[in-house]
Amino acid sequence: MIRRGKLYIVGNWKMNPDTYDEARHIATVVCRSARSAQRTVTTVICPPAPFLALLARSRRPICLGTQDVSSAFDGAYTGEIAARHMRSVGATYAIVGHSERRRSGDTDTTVREKTLRSLEAGLKTIICVGEESRDDHGAFLSFVRNQLLEALSALPKKHCSDVIIAYEPVWAVGGNYQDALSPDHIHQMVIFIRKVLSELWGRADAMRVPILYGGSVDLENAKRILASGEVNGLLVGRRSLDATEFSSMIRYAATI
Ligand code: PGA
Repeated sequence: MIRRGKLYIVGNWKMNPDTYDEARHIATVVCRSARSAQRTVTTVICPPAPFLALLARSRRPICLGTQDVSSAFDGAYTGEIAARHMRSVGATYAIVGHSERRRSGDTDTTVREKTLRSLEAGLKTIICVGEESRDDHGAFLSFVRNQLLEALSALPKKHCSDVIIAYEPVWAVGGNYQDALSPDHIHQMVIFIRKVLSELWGRADAMRVPILYGGSVDLENAKRILASGEVNGLLVGRRSLDATEFSSMIRYAATI
């Protein structure tokens, strides 16, 4: 077994909650567990952009991440949010290539550009990959391999230490919690992803890239996945808005 180092528990709030007061309340509760776990667990919250800027005003034992960045560095792109702007208001992480962004039109090329913008801005970049569906012939593996190569092969190697991969099978995102991928299957995907990363960057650097699992994670399956999925952490959607449950995941991760 590979020494896993620090675990990441990342919450993707998507377009929630309704108000900044609610956002602050969740963050405050989560901070208690994040503080006690911080020696072994990195807690990251990815709130909506306006909340991120406000949450970043107080010092907290959590990191803040943006849910997306523009593929452009600057210029006439009304409504886009630049990576460097998010960095400037307190983000230290970014998610790119989330399946919900890919569904809204992000291609592999867009994901590659966003990855570069994010890394250039100094953000640790969580790149989401994952197949739409599974088949018996391994076509889903080629799909994931291709997503990784498209996002990473043109990347200057100096950036590889700031890359985090989130493996999120699209069919498991937003689904039933009992349908999350099993720890055994997750472990197989972790091995597969490391193999692709090794081809790109060599084994030593590939082994250092954190690999997270995401897709219908709740407290129950989180425990199993963290205990035997060989992942470096979790990307949690819906259940990250439940401050008590998300805090329990952080505390559990600290016991591993
Ligand atoms: P979910 O979302 O945990 O609600 O399935 C995961 C994600 O979108 O990253």
